[in-house]
Amino acid sequence: MTGRICGTGFCVPEHVMDNEELSRMVETSDEWIRERTGIEKRHIITDETTVSMAAKAAEQALEDAGISAEQVELILTATISSNVILPCAACEVQKEIGAANAACFDINAACCGFLTAYQTAQAYIAAGIYQTILIIGSESLSKLTDWTDRGTCILFGDGAGAAVLKAGEGESFRSILHSDGSRGEALTCSGRHWKSGEEDTGFMKMDGREVFQFAVKQVPEVIREVLELNHCKLEEIDYFVVHQANRRIIESVAKRLRTDVRKFPMNLQEYGNTSSASIPILLAELRRNGVLKKGHRILMAGFGAGLSWGAGIADWGI
Ligand code: COA
Repeated sequence: MTGRICGTGFCVPEHVMDNEELSRMVETSDEWIRERTGIEKRHIITDETTVSMAAKAAEQALEDAGISAEQVELILTATISSNVILPCAACEVQKEIGAANAACFDINAACCGFLTAYQTAQAYIAAGIYQTILIIGSESLSKLTDWTDRGTCILFGDGAGAAVLKAGEGESFRSILHSDGSRGEALTCSGRHWKSGEEDTGFMKMDGREVFQFAVKQVPEVIREVLELNHCKLEEIDYFVVHQANRRIIESVAKRLRTDVRKFPMNLQEYGNTSSASIPILLAELRRNGVLKKGHRILMAGFGAGLSWGAGIADWGI
């Protein structure tokens, strides 16, 4: 048995902050941000929350899959920016959407969160424990962003994406996740309530160059690794759905793999880096726009804080 994605959905906040607005807040410019990152705008929460966006994305995904909330057996919510520490976001989503029969827990794997949820769901399905699983990535990174730090505040945005996985027949693929905690200092966040000292604002802190170099090296490597593990050729992949952090990172990955960059769809220009939500938002958009079609083979790849990185292959079944 393998888990097939049979429905997707996404939700982003209404408020849009473009680069011009940001350049009135910190010393930067639309030109600099576009050139270095490809980002043009990001959506930022006002009344929305991590849970409200997750619930909307989940409801869309369930409708797309044609299943009721009661049929969901497990909800996995990947997030680093939940409304509260307890209860977990997955339990709050359960309450919002009425998925009374689901077990729920959250996954903290930063920008690899959705991939980690996907791999966890596949493992539960392969073990025969659950057949219908809702996986969500949802973030309100604007709450963890230092809006005076131009090195980070230009990058991040808020939003949520969701997918329904159902057990079915067909080719099963093994995904890969790696972590290197010894490099964790490159991207940290102690949290607004957990400041460790006077110097610590509790916001996200990042060594941009180090993260950039890590991503352009590890992402092509893990893509090759997951292809080899599954006896799959690079040419067999129709689309590479890569974590939407930076256009230059994605272009570099495509170049290193000697693959046409048009096989690497991007929406970071519209949403910025939404961490665990970026892959499922992109999947839902590609489905909605009719780009992803039944029979397409996709490869998802993520990287981020931890440092962690990984990749997984899926045959698109809807
Ligand atoms: N606007 C204008 N200038 C800026 C700036 C901004 N927002 N941020 C940095 N600069 C300046 C720096 O101060 C530096 O100036 P200097 O040369 O006078 O010292 C110059 O631009 C170059 O800085 P650098 O940090 O080398 O830029 P960069 O090309 O590495 O781009 C990032 C910075 C953050 C865009 C880039 O490193 C990056 O995207 N890294 C990956 C981050 C990421 O994806 N994180 C999430 C992973 S999940």
